[in-house]
Amino acid sequence: MTETFVGRATPNGVPLFLSRWLAHPLRMGSVVPSSATLCKHMVRCAWPEDDGVVLELGAGTGVISRAFLDAGLAAERLVTLEIDPDLADHLRGTLRGVEVLECDARKMLDYLPKRFQGRISSVVCGIPLVLLPFVEQRRFVHAMQAVAPGQGFLLFSYCITSPLPAKKLGLTAKREVWTPMNLPPASVWRYMPASADA
Ligand SMILES: C[S@@+](CC[C@H](N)C(=O)[O-])C[C@H]1O[C@@H](n2cnc3c(N)ncnc32)[C@H](O)[C@@H]1O
Repeated sequence: MTETFVGRATPNGVPLFLSRWLAHPLRMGSVVPSSATLCKHMVRCAWPEDDGVVLELGAGTGVISRAFLDAGLAAERLVTLEIDPDLADHLRGTLRGVEVLECDARKMLDYLPKRFQGRISSVVCGIPLVLLPFVEQRRFVHAMQAVAPGQGFLLFSYCITSPLPAKKLGLTAKREVWTPMNLPPASVWRYMPASADA
């Protein structure tokens, strides 16, 4: 019963997602949640080592978080973050056992409970950073580096080229995946601190 509630049978919340897009189109950046195929790619690319914790930023209706749970990640090794109160409510109601942070990702260090600090080994970002000016992109990157120093992050995007100016941000960029099986087709980009790559 619990497994069904948390995982496979949970609706992906398309009507809720659409309603939040109507309210905040730029902040949502997409009309529908990520496809099952894109979620599986994210899980494969961001699977944490040992007992590391996964942090998902901009979780929306939680399809990526649910894909991690379905792949066997223990709920206590997942932290999911969302700025929209209605979506955060949905996440709390559907991702049992998962820590849901309702906040702006730029302030995540202040909201991350102590028990997770120093344990984040994978950061998965669904926030449409490409739509933001450079100074805001830099704030998000610094916030991610503060909670997961040296780990880099994964970002999915509908762009053909890198959605972030990696070099200017002191990062390296690598496209891990491109899939047509998403609306619209999407890529998964891995960004790492440039110094860690040297
Ligand atoms: C493209 S949707 C991705 C949703 C989900 N990850 C998926 O793949 O279906 C972007 C999400 O980022 C959230 N978001 C945008 N800006 C944010 C911010 N500053 N802090 C936290 N979440 C944010 C939006 O509310 C939205 O749910």
